[in-house]
Parts: sequence; C-alpha cells; structure tokens
Amino acid sequence: MALSAFYAVWGLLLEVAIAFGPVPRITWEHKEVQLIHFNESKVSNYSTLLLSEDKNILYVGAREVIFALNAVNIAEKQHELHWKVTEDKRTKCAVKGKSEQTECRNYVRVLQQLNDTFLYVCGTNAFQPTCDYLNLISFELGGKNEDGKGRCPFDPAQSYTSVMVDEELYSGTSYNFLGSEPIISRHSHQSPLRTEYAIPWLNEPNFVFADVIRADPNSTDGEDDKIYFFFTEVSVEYEFVGKLMIPRIARVCKRDQGGLRTLQKKWTSFLKARLICTIPDKNLIFNVINDVFILKSPTLKEPVIYGVFTPQLNNVGLSAVCAYNLSTVEEVFSKGKYMQSATVEQSHTKWVRYNGEIPNPRPGACINNEARASNYMSSLNLPDKTLQFVKDHPLMDDSVTPMGDRPRLVKRDVKYTQIVVDRVRALNGTIYDVMFIGTDQGALHKAISYENGMHIIEETQLFPNFEPVQTLLLSSKTGRRYLFAGSNSGVVQSPVAFCDKYTTCVDCVLARDPYCAWKPLEASCIDIFKEGEMERNWIQNIGGDASSCSEFLKTFRGSSGKLQVN
Ligand SMILES: *[C@@H]1O[C@H](CO)[C@@H](O)[C@H](O)[C@H]1NC(C)=O
Ligand SMILES: *[C@@H]1O[C@H](CO)[C@@H](O)[C@H](O)[C@H]1NC(C)=O
Repeated sequence: MALSAFYAVWGLLLEVAIAFGPVPRITWEHKEVQLIHFNESKVSNYSTLLLSEDKNILYVGAREVIFALNAVNIAEKQHELHWKVTEDKRTKCAVKGKSEQTECRNYVRVLQQLNDTFLYVCGTNAFQPTCDYLNLISFELGGKNEDGKGRCPFDPAQSYTSVMVDEELYSGTSYNFLGSEPIISRHSHQSPLRTEYAIPWLNEPNFVFADVIRADPNSTDGEDDKIYFFFTEVSVEYEFVGKLMIPRIARVCKRDQGGLRTLQKKWTSFLKARLICTIPDKNLIFNVINDVFILKSPTLKEPVIYGVFTPQLNNVGLSAVCAYNLSTVEEVFSKGKYMQSATVEQSHTKWVRYNGEIPNPRPGACINNEARASNYMSSLNLPDKTLQFVKDHPLMDDSVTPMGDRPRLVKRDVKYTQIVVDRVRALNGTIYDVMFIGTDQGALHKAISYENGMHIIEETQLFPNFEPVQTLLLSSKTGRRYLFAGSNSGVVQSPVAFCDKYTTCVDCVLARDPYCAWKPLEASCIDIFKEGEMERNWIQNIGGDASSCSEFLKTFRGSSGKLQVN
C-alpha cells in the first residue's frame, strides 16, 4: 500500500460525517431487560473469564480473588478464593515506584483449564508474576508459586493473552518489569519455547487473542495443530511520521521443538502477517485490532476468524468487523512471499519483498509428512539454512485479506472492544453467523450480515455505568445460550435474545432476529431454540417482510423498547 493512502486516511476520517453503517433497530436500556449480575463489594477488575461448559461453571479472575459461579445463574456463587499479595511484596513493589494501592496488587490474568481437577492460574502479584494450580475440588491453590515471567504480565495495565493446548500454556505478554520485552512463549516441562527478542519478531505488540486450530483429522498430509496469536504492533514495513500500527496474525506449530543450534529453545515456526481490514473505495483503514473470535462449527467447511478493528486515530469513532477464512491465512503462511530487511544508508533499514531463493524445507513450515519423508522428523533436525532464514524473515510480504474483500460490519460513533459469534439456523434453514459485539460504553450490539447488507438487530446496555466490556464469552450449549461479559465493576449474564419483549407479530418479525419467531396460536414471540420442536406455522422473516402477520393481526402496537426507523 502506498504511503500516501495513509495520509489520505487521516484527513478523510474527519470528513466521514455521513451516516455510516446501520443503526441498531432497537435499544434496550439497562433497566428494560433482566440481566443477571455478579459483583462483590471491595472486589474490582473482573477481567478474566473462563467457562467450563461440562461443569456449567463460570470462573472469574478479579483483583486478588478467583470465583466459581453457576453458569446458569451467575448470581449463585459456588466458591471463592482470595489470592493476596504479601505485605512484604507490596512494600517492595511500592519502593520501585509503583502505586501500593492499585498496581502493587494481584490481578488474575491467566485462568486456564489444565485438566478435570486443576486450573492453571497466574496473577501479576505486585509486579512479580506468579502461577499456581487451583484444585477444583477443594478450591485451593497448590502453593507451587511458580515464576510467572513470560506467562503473565508484571504490570496489570499491559496486554496479555493465553491459551491452554494439551496441558501446555501458550502466552503472549511481556517478559520484564518495564514491560519493554515482548514475548510469545510456550510453557512446557519438556520443551519450553519463546520468540527471539528482536524487533522484526515483535515490535511493541498489544496482544488481544490466542487460540488453537487443530489439523483436519481427515487430511493425509500429517499437518500439525497450530496456535494463532493476534496483536497490533508498530510497523517496520511502512515509513510514517510517528508510529504506524499494524494488525497481525502470527502462528506457531504445536510440535515445534526449537532448533538444535540456531534458534535453540526458540520457535522455528513463528511467522506473522498483516491482517487487512479496509474499505477500499472509501480509503478507510482499520489498523488496530481489539479482539478476535474463531468460529469453529461442524456446519462450516473451515474455521472463520472474526476480528473487531478501529482506526489508529479514531476521532469520529469508527469500528469494523472483518472475517477471514482459514484457508486464506494458511495460503499466506505456506505459499506467500517473505519480507526482508535491507540496510539503506548507515543505520536505516527498509523492509522489502524477498525475491531470492527460499531454502528447503520451507522456513516456518510445520513438520508434516513431506518433511518426514525427507527425514526431517522434528524441528531439531531442520537444516541451519532454513532456521537462519526464518530467524531473519518472520514477516510475510503477503497480507491476509478478509472474506468478500470488505468488512462484515462498519459502524460509526462506537468503539468495539470484544466479539463472539454464534452460528444459528433460522426457521427456513438458512444459517446466520450472529455477531455479538461489546463496546467501550458497556453496550452490546447483536448483528447479522447477509448478501445485501448488514443489520444490527439490537443494542443492549449491559453495564449501567457505561464502562468498557473487557471480556465476552458465549455459552452455546443447545437450549441454553448465554453471553457473559466482564468489566472493571462486575460480570453480567445475558440471554442471546429478548424475544418475549416483542408483543406483536409485526414487532417480532421486523426484529429480523434469527432466534425469535411469532407463535400465532399463543400470540407470543418465542425463542425458537428454547422450544422442544419447531412448528410450521411459526412466523419469522429475516428479510423483514411481515406480511404473513396480517392474517393474524389487525392492530399494530409498539413494543416497549425504543424503536428506531432504519
Ligand atoms: C481496575 O478497576 C478500576 C475501577 O474499578 C480502574 O480504575 C482500574 O484502571 C482497573 N485496573 C486495571 C489494571 O484494569
Ligand atoms: C476463502 O476466502 C477466499 C478469499 O475471499 C475465497 O477465494 C475462498 O473461496 C474462500 N474459501 C472458502 C472455503 O470459503
């Protein structure tokens, strides 16, 4: 992309005063909907959530406390564990110039399911990150007090992400007190691995998400499971006045063992690429990624990655959702060109496309059957040439383009912070990916996108004090779908739909909500997934045609929410 495009964007942003993106059809104020809340006095920062669908428990990591809540009704607390910083540690932390009242506390940042009986938990612990094993039967810590460096940030204000894969913890965070050394690492007793500490690998990243995508069990190529990381970092490849942010996807292979000499105890499979989320004809570039959700469903041919983005200078408050299919991502990493740094003048480096010869096996590729056939059984036997190449060229030149080459949703006057996506089958059999998106003002947007456009079904005010939604989880067990949102002040549980708020057939149908349908015999708007069986005479029309209602309805009455005309 030309540099001039970026300059054009900043000017243009101001000018996008035109109505941009759909308006929520209906807005539910906080008091209009019945949501379940959880918070305790003197406890704050409920930022880490973990859902156990098998046990029906929502684990909550807050400041110096871990809770276990009934996931069907989070107001029901099952356990609580206080995990405090010792007096001594707090004093030492304060001596180093940190605030004793706020920063020198223990903020729980990692809550991961290790196995049936244990959670792996880490907290900032007054700038001495510490990890431990939480026994789910006694709800007590094992007292291991492992050094959490590289797994949990020192500073509660710093970004972090983690995912547990086959009892090994993968995390993106910072490795030192100052927060100046970023790291993506695997914590494992056999083969801990980490990123090189070098600008081309990670350049002031802001981590937002990590997840595993398993290799296709039916495939015969012997590919590995891969762990993907999402973050925004400072660009090395574009020159710009000041720091230009770039949204990235990076990935590593699960069976990576590091190199034998080159890249010893470092990833041999770390590659990253730029995620594109732009509106080409409007010259709008969304270059900060705030959250990601990977939709994996048996009804999908391949996983789809949903990301929420904002522009770097967001003076008009624009947000976008872009979706990427996994094959596009894989194509970039497995066939794309690499970038290379070239020194121009004395100290100035410039990143350009590498057009030279690429060593074999392909740098950064996972060990698959083809590699094994050439006798490369593990990353430990990879030739030095391959390893040296990936060490110097972790950045791909090709970028990951979104499905349909444009955002799924663009919205003005809002900053989107979190996203989850539910895949539902409407009454007529059409499948919709319903996006639930949290905002920095404590609201939730529920939206669908279809061929002819996008539609925000509703806006719900989850938090009465308009604070940012920091974590969003979806429980999509059949017949029991809920959303859980965490913030500084507490946790909220919300149903995925408020069908019964619609009191007329027309309101129910015009909501264009795949969860809701009108049941003529009972004259009520129902959640179709809560019913035992679907019936033929129910009325639903996601296109917004309510003509079928007229047979059953003569009077038109507004619903209790505020109805806005699209
Ligand atoms: C914790 O919550 C308080 C508000 O209750 C907020 O001011 C503070 O910034 C939060 N701290 C972190 C590290 O999130
Ligand atoms: C993935 O996205 C690309 C680019 O939009 C498209 O060409 C390809 O057909 C998509 N694949 C699937 C399986 O949807």
